[in-house]
Amino acid sequence: MTTATVDLGAIAHNLALVRRVVSSADVMAVVKADAYGHGLLRVSEALRARDVRWLGVALPSEALALRDFGDTGRILAWLWAPGDGDIERCVASGVDLGVSNSRMLQEVAAAAATTGTKARVQLKVDTGLSRNGCSLSQWPALIAEVLDAGSLVEVTGVWSHLANADIPNHPSVHEQRLLFDQACATAEDLGLVIPMRHLANSPAALLSPETHYDLVRVGIALYGVSPVAGRDFGLRPAMTLVSSVASVKMIDAGASVSYGTTWTATEETLVALVRGGYADGVPRSAGNRAEVVINGRLYPIVGHVAMDQFMVAVSGDVMAGDEVVIFGTSPTANEFAQACDTIGYEIVTRIGPRVPRAYVGAS
Ligand SMILES: Cc1ncc(COP(=O)(O)O)c(C=O)c1O
Repeated sequence: MTTATVDLGAIAHNLALVRRVVSSADVMAVVKADAYGHGLLRVSEALRARDVRWLGVALPSEALALRDFGDTGRILAWLWAPGDGDIERCVASGVDLGVSNSRMLQEVAAAAATTGTKARVQLKVDTGLSRNGCSLSQWPALIAEVLDAGSLVEVTGVWSHLANADIPNHPSVHEQRLLFDQACATAEDLGLVIPMRHLANSPAALLSPETHYDLVRVGIALYGVSPVAGRDFGLRPAMTLVSSVASVKMIDAGASVSYGTTWTATEETLVALVRGGYADGVPRSAGNRAEVVINGRLYPIVGHVAMDQFMVAVSGDVMAGDEVVIFGTSPTANEFAQACDTIGYEIVTRIGPRVPRAYVGAS
């Protein structure tokens, strides 16, 4: 069976490391997408135990899962659309909501009126990513509208998101920061008091002190996957995806392996069957490209990865029952991802629902 071991001690180590780097800025732990595949509730509980004041999620439903679990701390949810059923509950339970336009503002103000609770709102300005976030041309009008909303809405922060922070010294980081400062100044000139500003994600937190402001929103670094190619910053991988050898057998020279027969043995070869396929989060593209570790040695995945299983060309000392490390400390999620032509973020977040998470380390 494939299991994802999650080391809560590694997450605590990474949190402490990020806190040292950003010194006076607060750290929002980003726990969207099931804490990047590591398990929303267990990870959030461990982070709150380490005095993490802010959790960040994409969806209102993720924030409400935390509230249902009993979390009463500060949460920011930033990806929602007018008409989503969860907005009233978010407002009523004190979840901060990212707001990027007038339509969203009207929705939270209406939820505030219905629930009798002031809506906590963090205004997002688009400084160059062109996803959500208020465009700079609309920004003064949105600020004016917020000020008009009066007692229905409390602005708890202004924020934006960077496009290229993972590329050291990329000029757009500086350009986005200048636009962010301008947007904040415009808002203040119009009379808005800004209690908190934030811009940085993991790579910016680790590389660009000028982006730290009051708080950094850190996801991938907490999970010990480096956000910058070629640098590890001393982060410790939190997740190890392990399976075991189900069986080994010798195949003849000329025999082909797995669907599509994309790999053919050039000589008599020992192959190991490993449980774990694309339903478990091992990308199909890992076939003939990525390597896994068995008994401390790297061996290649041969043939296409199937839904539930893949094959590895091994040497004579590999036996049924041996542990197979798909990624973790070595190969890292980033190394495994590179072989599959993707990024470490995708590798850890795509682990399938039938893979149990086993927690180790201090909580
Ligand atoms: C708006 C926002 N802030 C912060 C993060 C955290 O990014 P990272 O995992 O690089 O720290 C994300 C993740 O994609 C995000 O969407």
